[in-house]
Amino acid sequence: MSATDEQAKYDYKSDESMRIDVWDENLHVGYWDGPGDTSDQTLATERLTDLVLARSGLGAGQHLLDVGCGMGKPARRAATETGCSVSGVSDSDTQVERANEGAAAAGIAGRVGFQTADATQELPFPDAHFDVAWAIESLVHMTDRARALAHVARTLKPGGLLVATDFFTHPPLTGARADAVDAFRGVALLGPIVSLDDYPALLRTTGFELREFVDLTEHTHRTYALLLQALRDNEADLRAQHGDAVFDGFVTAFAYCVESLEPRYMLYVARRVADR
Ligand SMILES: C[S@@+](CC[C@H](N)C(=O)[O-])C[C@H]1O[C@@H](n2cnc3c(N)ncnc32)[C@H](O)[C@@H]1O
Repeated sequence: MSATDEQAKYDYKSDESMRIDVWDENLHVGYWDGPGDTSDQTLATERLTDLVLARSGLGAGQHLLDVGCGMGKPARRAATETGCSVSGVSDSDTQVERANEGAAAAGIAGRVGFQTADATQELPFPDAHFDVAWAIESLVHMTDRARALAHVARTLKPGGLLVATDFFTHPPLTGARADAVDAFRGVALLGPIVSLDDYPALLRTTGFELREFVDLTEHTHRTYALLLQALRDNEADLRAQHGDAVFDGFVTAFAYCVESLEPRYMLYVARRVADR
């Protein structure tokens, strides 16, 4: 796995290079009710989508922007369950192609489309175009979260909702904890992670007001244990393929996440303010 290879970005989750058979086409964490919840990863990741969908207030005739759409599975659910239209963007051509194939296979390509775009640079849509925007676990992969949020605000109608999930730290990290989270960011190819204390101001300065915040950490963290287990289950192959240093770096980083519950995971709803 090479950090310089653009398409290697999600290899640890889903594709050929660092194959770990945990994810399906939802490229986000799972949600479990508690320790006794035996749901598999597929059901658990659908539950995370449920939480986003339930807060979105979407209906027929409305238009959803899905920023960092992945393989398009959450967007397909939005379209089929609410009747809305969806425009999705990802910075991965491969994901966009697969997302468009998925929409065509589901017979919804007429109102669901995906295109390649870097949300930190620009979103290829007019001002005040969308009723609702999603950013499911995508902002954390971007180098400049504030720029991406400002572009989302521009393309949302005043009063429109952003429903997002993101990593966060709380309390702010220092010392060895900061180093360990940085190591995780390195292997997972994440951008900066924001402290909870700084998040409301980030939203305010980019054109949003925070309406709801939910700390999902206790419900989503099993994802990292599953990834760690998958790494160990495939240890021999992965060591042979990627070398000991890469493999050990992944294990150390994910083991830290499992033990520490860091970084934490949030779901939030923010409203695009009218007076930008
Ligand atoms: C963890 S995946 C989440 C995918 C999808 N939201 C889901 O829940 O299945 C992160 C997504 O963010 C996208 N992404 C990362 N940086 C991006 C950027 N600068 N502009 C657009 N998309 C980006 C990736 O291509 C990927 O689709």
